[in-house]
Amino acid sequence: MNPLSAFAYLLSSVLFILGLKMLSSARTARKGNGFAALGMLIAIVVTLTDQKIIDFSYILAGLIVGTAIGLVLAIKVQMTAMPQMVGVLNGFGGGASALVAFAEYLRLSGDVSLTVWKGGEVGLDVLITIVLSILIGTVTIVGSMIAAAKLHGVMRSAPILYPMQKQSNAALLAVILGLGVFFVLDPSLWYVLLIIVLLAAVLGVTSVIPIGGADMPVVISLMNSYSGLAGATTGFILSNDVLIISGTLVGTSGIILTNIMCKAMNRSIWNVLFAGVGVEYDPSVQATEQRTVVNYTPEDAAYMLGNAQSVIIVPGYGLAVAQAQHVLQELAQLLTQKGAMVRYAIHPVAGRMPGHMNVLLAEANVPYDLLLEMDQINDDFQNTDVALVIGANDVVNPAARYKKDSPLYGMPILNADQARTVMVLKRSLNPGFAGEDNELFYDKKTMMVFGDAKATLTKLVQLVKQ
Ligand code: TAP
Repeated sequence: MNPLSAFAYLLSSVLFILGLKMLSSARTARKGNGFAALGMLIAIVVTLTDQKIIDFSYILAGLIVGTAIGLVLAIKVQMTAMPQMVGVLNGFGGGASALVAFAEYLRLSGDVSLTVWKGGEVGLDVLITIVLSILIGTVTIVGSMIAAAKLHGVMRSAPILYPMQKQSNAALLAVILGLGVFFVLDPSLWYVLLIIVLLAAVLGVTSVIPIGGADMPVVISLMNSYSGLAGATTGFILSNDVLIISGTLVGTSGIILTNIMCKAMNRSIWNVLFAGVGVEYDPSVQATEQRTVVNYTPEDAAYMLGNAQSVIIVPGYGLAVAQAQHVLQELAQLLTQKGAMVRYAIHPVAGRMPGHMNVLLAEANVPYDLLLEMDQINDDFQNTDVALVIGANDVVNPAARYKKDSPLYGMPILNADQARTVMVLKRSLNPGFAGEDNELFYDKKTMMVFGDAKATLTKLVQLVKQ
């Protein structure tokens, strides 16, 4: 590689690292994303020109087509469908690594018809990494597609369980690894690689279907990590430094994110992957509930909010569904003008992906310093007039503190129940993603204001203005 290309690779790697660092704060995240994208652009263009793989017209055509597809997808995707989109993109990363590994095998074999092995002595390290890249990449693309299908509701989101599931998955992995050894010993056996692809695809399906829909964001984050691993492995096959560095960054940051999500739900990764947690909501069970809730009108709620000195807003998944972030910001500004202290309490797993609420509220220009993390604000609820819970459910469910058989048990929650008044804006008494009824709704100090969050908030803005 010429020194200029080596320098460009170094520059790309530095941009990736700076980009990742900036993603850790909402204030700098947009810039960080730009830095990382620039790093990727440099890496692609330099690789294609340095290796003389294709000429400029192809590079330009690829850039135009790729940018157009990316742009349309990014503009059209609904905020609520973002986790699926991330899942699909991770999957493509894994699939691309597997394809490159296979292409490199074809190149090394010396005869693309594969009828004769002319590859001669190919290093053991290259053969092992080809098997690993194909295995991890295939599991990633298939597993990510299943995760995305579950999140998008195309597939049943409840865990699909059958006897001896873990054992059969372990046996399948053992067979794949055995075949891998077989291939490394005799690389002319190209069809062994195809069997590995097939079995890895089956493993991608069987390892994700037992996981419930609510845990899919964790799976997607884990798959993200796998796609990085597949990329890094492919980097070793090609002796490409920037691929090794970027793959390792994706692999490690993905596993750190997975860990953060598990911690926020107070669960281990083994529990997420193997416990089959995730029930489907059964309305008939709710119908037998004897407890009653008090239904308040937007007028009652506006009166209460208009007189509050302090308000903590707890946003949840329903805020994203209703796309009510802009009107919420309008209400918060109105209350602030009236002299109230208004802040937002952000639970680490509110919504359906990490940082979901931060992104949603940033879109409505909510100042970052008003968004407080759970640890920063949880002790303040007890001195707060109104906890305004909007489209959130599990993250304020007190069952997480004491109900041992609940899927939420042990998850740290926002102490909304400690505020002087709790106001909940949602459409019904339906539970949240974990399928657990919420006793907060039945509390005497809770005002339930039923309806779509956007419609209710729009009404509240009008009333508070009056
Ligand atoms: P949820 O517990 O899922 O509750 C969302 C609530 O929003 C629902 O109860 C729903 O009630 C309401 N809603 C839906 N559409 C609405 C609309 N148009 N207007 C008003 N309300 C609406 O949400 P949460 O509190 O944000 O908790 C997140 C859950 O996802 C947790 O269980 C968490 O563990 C899980 N999870 C999250 C992540 C990440 S990283 N965020 C990862 C894995 C799992 P109605 O139908 O009655 O309106």
